[in-house]
Amino acid sequence: MHFLDDRDLNRADQLDLLDTTWRLKHEGFDLGAPLAGKTVAMVMSKPSLRTRTSFTVATRRLGGEILEIGAHNTKLGKGEDMEEWAAVLTSMVDGIGARVHGHEDLEALAKFGSKPVVNLLSDKLHPLQSLCDAYTVFESAKKQGLANSGSAAEYFGTSRKWAYLGDGNNIIHSMMLVAASLGVIIHAACPEGRAPDPALVKAARDLHPAGADGVRVDHDANAAAADADMISTDTWVSMGQEGAMDRDAVRALFGPFQVDAARMALGKPGAVFMHCLPAVPGEEMTAEVLRGPQSIILEQAENRLWTVQTLLARKIFG
Ligand code: CP
Ligand code: NVA
Repeated sequence: MHFLDDRDLNRADQLDLLDTTWRLKHEGFDLGAPLAGKTVAMVMSKPSLRTRTSFTVATRRLGGEILEIGAHNTKLGKGEDMEEWAAVLTSMVDGIGARVHGHEDLEALAKFGSKPVVNLLSDKLHPLQSLCDAYTVFESAKKQGLANSGSAAEYFGTSRKWAYLGDGNNIIHSMMLVAASLGVIIHAACPEGRAPDPALVKAARDLHPAGADGVRVDHDANAAAADADMISTDTWVSMGQEGAMDRDAVRALFGPFQVDAARMALGKPGAVFMHCLPAVPGEEMTAEVLRGPQSIILEQAENRLWTVQTLLARKIFG
């Protein structure tokens, strides 16, 4: 299967991956070596630390080899036509992970290539991140021994709320879709003109068991944070958008959405702070919140490895 969009996994798939990731990370579950003898191309049109490292290490742990194709020689979406590019690459490798600008480049890789394609981030979606985020929230509850955290089905069968404050970008798009599928109330507070894509908001509402009540999008940062189990944000300027807006204008527009200690205090007792990283302390959140006791950003980053390993073994190459 391809994994271009959060909706490529249904709720049962997601719950299985979350439980399996716990077993892999904490109970020594063996995923085997489904990638033995296989080569996976990793096409990177933008910089990356977490995705590059986790995808590479996961592929190797599953017995496979990685061929990295960087921005300087991708010709992705320009130069050589995608029809030949994808067909040629997939005649020699067994799968592709790609980080791209336009999401349509991933769709073209899937259409014209003959092997599974995994989205390593596009301007529209970052589904490996949202899968990891769902796992990280579940893991944190399980480690704390919170009620109803025995299994992913139990945890996500109980009323939960996530907050996102900031830019209506790829991160909140994927978070909304996963939250909707898992039945988590998601409240995104974004500045005027920076709301998430209305088509994806509608798609998330259609998917959510609570409909429009389950997916809230407005400008009220305090209401979003109120009673949340998890409060998150992302950089105010995504890759590829640098220079589109003057930095002072960015700070003026997004400043009222900063996650600070007062906003964290609005969450449920035990609420956690999450950020996919890289972060800019002093902008989307204070340094105090980023590195404070409620922050689980380092566990979240490490979990990119465990979740992608499970996904590759169980769904993509399983
Ligand atoms: N969160 C994330 O995707 O990080 P990288 O850009 O470092 O891969
Ligand atoms: N929204 C950010 C996420 C980085 C992991 C970007 O696209 O740059």
